[in-house]
Amino acid sequence: MIDFYNGWLEESNRIEKTVNEAPRVARGKNLNWVRTRQDSRAALMIAPETGFPTGGSLLMRAEIPVGWHTGKHIHGEEAIYIERGEGFLLLDEKRYDCRRATVFHIPYRSTHQLFNTGNEPVSYLSGLAWHLEAFIYMGHMEQIEDAGQNDSAGLAKVPREESQYWPTDGRRISIHEEQFDLSTETKHGATYFLMGRSGKQNGFKATAVAISSIFVDLPHSKSHSHAHPEAYLYALQGSGYSEIGGKRYEWDQGDAIHVPPGMMHHQHFNPTDHDMKELRFEYGIRYWIVDQWKGYTTIDRHMKATHLDD
Ligand SMILES: [Fe+2]
Ligand SMILES: [Fe+2]
Repeated sequence: MIDFYNGWLEESNRIEKTVNEAPRVARGKNLNWVRTRQDSRAALMIAPETGFPTGGSLLMRAEIPVGWHTGKHIHGEEAIYIERGEGFLLLDEKRYDCRRATVFHIPYRSTHQLFNTGNEPVSYLSGLAWHLEAFIYMGHMEQIEDAGQNDSAGLAKVPREESQYWPTDGRRISIHEEQFDLSTETKHGATYFLMGRSGKQNGFKATAVAISSIFVDLPHSKSHSHAHPEAYLYALQGSGYSEIGGKRYEWDQGDAIHVPPGMMHHQHFNPTDHDMKELRFEYGIRYWIVDQWKGYTTIDRHMKATHLDD
């Protein structure tokens, strides 16, 4: 009979094998769309349920039909990117407007719901750390209302947006494209800083999940070559490929790329004539690991974005 300790040793080997053999790209074209109480149409991209070895996190895509709203619910922290459409977020009874490229931070256990008030479906991306919260028995999820059609009398009663900040502690809740900060970093063709953890960067205070940045990789260029703990990229525009752990993975607009937990070396390549744009999600659990061992910090092999031939 195997004792518990030998069981742990075996598990350690199994973890390494699982991460090495796991998929790295969730294909936007092959998603398994379902109706849930929260969303009229939702699909998991990078998630344990779709075979990705995540650090207890996930990336979901969802759509709100014209004239509809999502469910109203409460859970852990969430980061949302509006890919298309317009409407508003109702968060703790305050309204925050959104349009294409708006980024939302949903504070831990705040009540929230999204409304589509435009003429096209709202398509959004959501990052959550649900599996981690559930694993540590902190996975609280409460459904207050289900997804459904807007009623115009109800919509008319919703107050106007007062602020992009949360009255509870002054942190930022939303940012629009024209407010994105262009950074001086040269690891990609361009980098826009979105959410930070401290409250100093744009006013966001994202602890569990952040939409940290947007990268632009120029035609015929490659990003810096580096290693760090887990991050996700969602391909907003263009197509290219990434080398992760020595293997090459092609991707197109609408795909999501998983840089798994651990320190897997990676680099992103744009062999095309058009800009490539990626939305980056990162999860706070990586800093819990980073704080314990100096081996878990970003390592750059070459620091800058360069031409493909350099
Ligand atoms: Fe939510
Ligand atoms: Fe990276």
